[in-house]
Amino acid sequence: MKFAFTLATLAAVVTFVSADVAIDLGTAADFTVVCVGGIINTGGSGPIIGNVATTGHNISGFPPGAITGDIEERTDAADQAHSDAEAVWNMLRALEGTQVVSTEDGTIVVTKGMGDADGNGTTNVTGAVFTPGIYNVFSILHVVTNITLDGEGQYIFTTGSHFDLDANASIILTNGAKASDVFFASGDSTNLLAGASVAGTILSNSAIRLAAGASVLGNLYTQGLMTFTEASVTPVVTPTD
Ligand SMILES: *[C@@H]1O[C@H](CO)[C@@H](O)[C@H](O)[C@H]1NC(C)=O
Ligand SMILES: *[C@@H]1O[C@H](CO)[C@@H](O)[C@H](O)[C@H]1NC(C)=O
Ligand SMILES: *[C@@H]1O[C@H](CO)[C@@H](O)[C@H](O)[C@H]1NC(C)=O
Ligand SMILES: *[C@@H]1O[C@H](CO)[C@@H](O)[C@H](O)[C@H]1NC(C)=O
Ligand SMILES: *[C@@H]1O[C@H](CO)[C@@H](O)[C@H](O)[C@H]1NC(C)=O
Repeated sequence: MKFAFTLATLAAVVTFVSADVAIDLGTAADFTVVCVGGIINTGGSGPIIGNVATTGHNISGFPPGAITGDIEERTDAADQAHSDAEAVWNMLRALEGTQVVSTEDGTIVVTKGMGDADGNGTTNVTGAVFTPGIYNVFSILHVVTNITLDGEGQYIFTTGSHFDLDANASIILTNGAKASDVFFASGDSTNLLAGASVAGTILSNSAIRLAAGASVLGNLYTQGLMTFTEASVTPVVTPTD
């Protein structure tokens, strides 16, 4: 069974030229969460480890949720962190890499998304293995089950629309891949269903939503609302050059 799984996943390995994009998060690096629309916690747990900032609406549901660091609510520091994160989002989204398309064995399936007239649709990723590189998904990146980032180096995923993980789907790091080298730049919202986990920093054009038991090893930057329902978030510090 293990062997069969390995063969199936190997078939989905996509290898591209290694990317090495300089990413300077500026003051946003000091924050685990930066958002515009406020941070809403509707569950009892957490914690969010590190500092949080919101430029617009306020932060609610803490407690019972926990934030271990400082809170910047509608301050100049929050504005600056948001501005710095937004600049990185813009930079990442302009990067051209390799389009993620269907694989013959069906481990990656590209379908036409709702309301997507141009033929760019949802990219369902199930069990795929990626090596370091820049990956562009023109519409929704929908991670159905675990995907693996294999090997040391930088990983950048951009999506034209949402970035979604189904329940219990994880981004798994192996062979030296580090969360601090992984970036997801979402063109719309980012949604982690219950138990889903992401290793990497997420920059999202609109809301980031973490359902019960979801977790992120990375930082969360959104130009929208941040909502937690009993999710835990652990930041990694992104090294700057
Ligand atoms: C924050 O927003 C919540 C929900 O809108 C509201 O109940 C609360 O009074 C606000 N707190 C502050 C300090 O503005
Ligand atoms: C898909 O999206 C890309 C980028 O926006 C665009 O260049 C392309 O024409 C679209 N349509 C198809 C069929 O790929
Ligand atoms: C993609 O995943 C979604 C959610 O699991 C599912 O509803 C849809 O049928 C899948 N599409 C394909 C082509 O497998
Ligand atoms: C996905 O990864 C998680 C975390 O490593 C693991 O607990 C789970 O069993 C994996 N699920 C599948 C379907 O392989
Ligand atoms: C996710 O994992 C939990 C704990 O193992 C399990 O109770 C739940 O049914 C799983 N959900 C799905 C949709 O597989």
